[in-house]
Amino acid sequence: MTNPKRYTLTAALPYANGPVHIGHLAGVYIPADIYARYQRLCNQDVLFVCGSDEHGVPVTLRARAEGVSVQEVVDKYDKLMKTAFADFGISFDIYSRTSKKIHYDTAQEIFKKMYENGKFEEKTTEQFYDESTKMFLADRLIMGICPKCSHPDAYGDQCESCGSTLSPDELINPRSMVSGNAPIKKETKHWYLPLNKYENWLREWILEGHKEWKSNVYGQCKSWIEQGLQPRAVTRDLDWGVPLPIPNTEGKVMYVWFDAPIGYISATKDYFQQKNADENAWEKYWKDSETKLVHFIGKDNIVFHCIIFPVILKAEGSYILPENVPANEFLNLESKKISTSRNWAVWLHEYLVDFPEKQDVLRYVLTANAPETKDNNFLWKDFQDRNNNELAANLGNFVNRVFTLTHKYFEGIVPAFTQNPTENDLKTIEIIATFPKKISDSLENYRFKEALGYLMELSSIGNKYLQDNAPWTLAKNFEENKDRINAVMNLSLQIIANLTILMQPFLPFAAQKLKNALHLGDFFWNETGNIDMVLTGQKIENLGILFDKIEDESIAKQVQKLLDTLETNKLAEKTTESKSEKTTEKFDKTPILENILPSKAEIVFDDFMKMDLRVATILHAEKMPKSDKLLKIRLNTGLDERTVLSGIGKDFAPEEIIGKQVCVLINLAPRKMMGEISQGMILMAKNTDGSLAFVLPSKTVENGSDVN
Ligand code: 2FM
Ligand code: ZN
Repeated sequence: MTNPKRYTLTAALPYANGPVHIGHLAGVYIPADIYARYQRLCNQDVLFVCGSDEHGVPVTLRARAEGVSVQEVVDKYDKLMKTAFADFGISFDIYSRTSKKIHYDTAQEIFKKMYENGKFEEKTTEQFYDESTKMFLADRLIMGICPKCSHPDAYGDQCESCGSTLSPDELINPRSMVSGNAPIKKETKHWYLPLNKYENWLREWILEGHKEWKSNVYGQCKSWIEQGLQPRAVTRDLDWGVPLPIPNTEGKVMYVWFDAPIGYISATKDYFQQKNADENAWEKYWKDSETKLVHFIGKDNIVFHCIIFPVILKAEGSYILPENVPANEFLNLESKKISTSRNWAVWLHEYLVDFPEKQDVLRYVLTANAPETKDNNFLWKDFQDRNNNELAANLGNFVNRVFTLTHKYFEGIVPAFTQNPTENDLKTIEIIATFPKKISDSLENYRFKEALGYLMELSSIGNKYLQDNAPWTLAKNFEENKDRINAVMNLSLQIIANLTILMQPFLPFAAQKLKNALHLGDFFWNETGNIDMVLTGQKIENLGILFDKIEDESIAKQVQKLLDTLETNKLAEKTTESKSEKTTEKFDKTPILENILPSKAEIVFDDFMKMDLRVATILHAEKMPKSDKLLKIRLNTGLDERTVLSGIGKDFAPEEIIGKQVCVLINLAPRKMMGEISQGMILMAKNTDGSLAFVLPSKTVENGSDVN
C-alpha cells in the first residue's frame, strides 16, 4: 500500500500468565515500538494497540500453579506487564485487557453476526472428558506420552520436548492434568470456522498477493495452505472466556484464539472511549481501506494472524485485512529455550533492578541481535560487549567528546560555521544526507537490525570526522585556528542532532536526554539529513555520560543467577522424579554449553556415501536378558527383516518403540553381542545430558527409503 492515510499497529496480546521477559521484547514489542515511533516521526497518523490476553488455558494453568483464582492471576500479571512495557518505553497508545466489557461486547457482536450469517458449521463430536471433575478437557489439560519422541509429559496440543504439534488423540496413555485420571470420550456440540472454504481466497490473498511478506511468514502460510485447511472449532467447554451469544449454550465460551485478536479491535474502541471521542471514531482504523494494518507477532502466532483471524475478518465482512505480519523467530537465552515455568529468562522487572536506567542498552542489544530471520541467542557476554564496544565506545564516546569540547572551548554555546567548508566537510555533509533514507528503507521493510546498523554507521562517521579533524590539536593555537575549530565543532554537533532524531525509535531514552541537552526542536524524519538542526548561539547543557561501561562483575552476577536457576531446576526435578516413577524428564537440564562434543575430523563425500542408511520400522522389541541397557529389536528394513541390538534400554521401554519408523545403518558389519548377532545400527541423537532420542523421518515413508 503506497501512502496509507493511517496506521493501525498491533503487538501480540501477551497472556496474563507471567511477567515479560527479553524474548517477548526481542520478538514482538521492540520491533513494533521502533516501527510505531518511526511512523510517528514521519508525521503519520499511528494507533499502536496492545493489551493483556486474559483467557485461554495458559492463564488457568498459572492460577492452578500459584494456587489462586484466575481473576487474581490476570489482575496481577496485567499490572506487571503494563508497567514493564511502560518502563521500557514501549509506546502503546493503549494497553487494554480482554476482560473488559468493551471486549466482551465486541467479540460477541462479531461472533453473533457470523453465526447469524451462517459462517460457522455446527458439529457434535467426542471429546476428552474428566469424569471425576465433570469437565471437558482442553488440549492443554491432557498429558500423555509423545508419539513422536516418547517424552512422557507431552501436552495434548504440543510436545515441548520435540516441538511436534499434536492432537490429544495422538497421545499414548492420555491423562487428565486436573485429576491425573484417564479421561473418557464424551459427546459435545461446537461451532467450527470452515477454513477449508477459504482456501482459494487465502491462496490468492497471501500466496499471490503478499509475496513480499518475510520468508518465514510466507513459508509457514504456504505450507499450511498447501497441506489443506480443516474446519477449526472456535468454541470450547470452559467456564473461563467470553460466553457465546447463542441461546442455551451455558458452559461454552469462545476459543481464546477467536477472541484474542478481536482484542486489537476492542483496544482501539477502548482508546477512543477513554478519549471521549465520537462513538465511531475507532472505525476508520479498522474499516477504511486506506488504513495500513500491521500485526507484530512471534513465530508461534503466525497461523492465527495470517490465516484464522483474517478468515474471521473476511467472514464478518466489514473489516480490512493486515497489510503485513512481520513475525520474528525465537530468542534463546545462553543457548537454551526461554521458559517461564523453568524460570529460564531475563525478566524485565528484575533487569531494571540490576541495571537501573539501562533500558536503551537492552533495547539496543535485542535489536542488534534480533531473531529476525532465525532463532538467535542472548548471551550476557555479548550484552556487555555490545554495550562497551558499540554504545559506549562509539556512540557514547562521540557524543561525550563533542559535548565536553563544546563546553571547554565555547562555554557550551554552539559556534557558527564561519569558514568555507573543506573537501572533507563537504564529503561528510553529503554522506549525512543519505542516512535518513537508508534507515527508513530498512524500517519500511521491517529490517530493524539493518536500520540500527546504519544508525551506528552514522555515529562512526561522526567519530571519525572528529578524530580526523582533531580540534584538540587545533586548539593548541586556538586564535589562529578559531574558524576551523568552529566549523568542526558545529558540524559535529549537527551530526549529533541528526543522530538524536534518527535514534528516537531505537533508543528513546538516550534520544530524549540528548534532545533536552541540545534544546533540539521536534524535527520530523524528513527534516533530518541536513546540517542546520542545532542553532548557532544555542546554549547546550551538560550531558553527563550517555552510556557507561558495564563491568565484568555485573555480568558475572547475571550468569550466576542463571546457574542458580539450573541448580534449582535440577533439585526440583530430582524431587519430582523420586515422587513419581512416571516422570523421566530428561531434557533441558545441562549447564550452559557443557557436553557439546567437538566436531570430528573432516571426511570426503565418498566416505559418507559408503554408509547405507535406510528407513525401517520396528516390528518387535524386547529386553536382552541380564542387560538393562540392550534391547533386541526386530526391524523391517524394506529389503529384509533383521535383528539389531541397541543400547537404548535405559531410555525406552520395548513396548513404547514398537511401530516407530527409524533410521538404520544397514551395512555395518554384523557384530556378536551377548550371544546375539546385531545386523546394523539404529541412529540416535544423544542429548547433551546423555539422554537419547530417535532420529526420525519427519513423515511416514516407505521402509527401505534411502537416507542421505
Ligand atoms: O501467544 C500469546 O501470548 C497469545 N496470547 C498471543 C495473542 S495475540 C492476539 F491474537 F491477541
Ligand atoms: Zn515429543
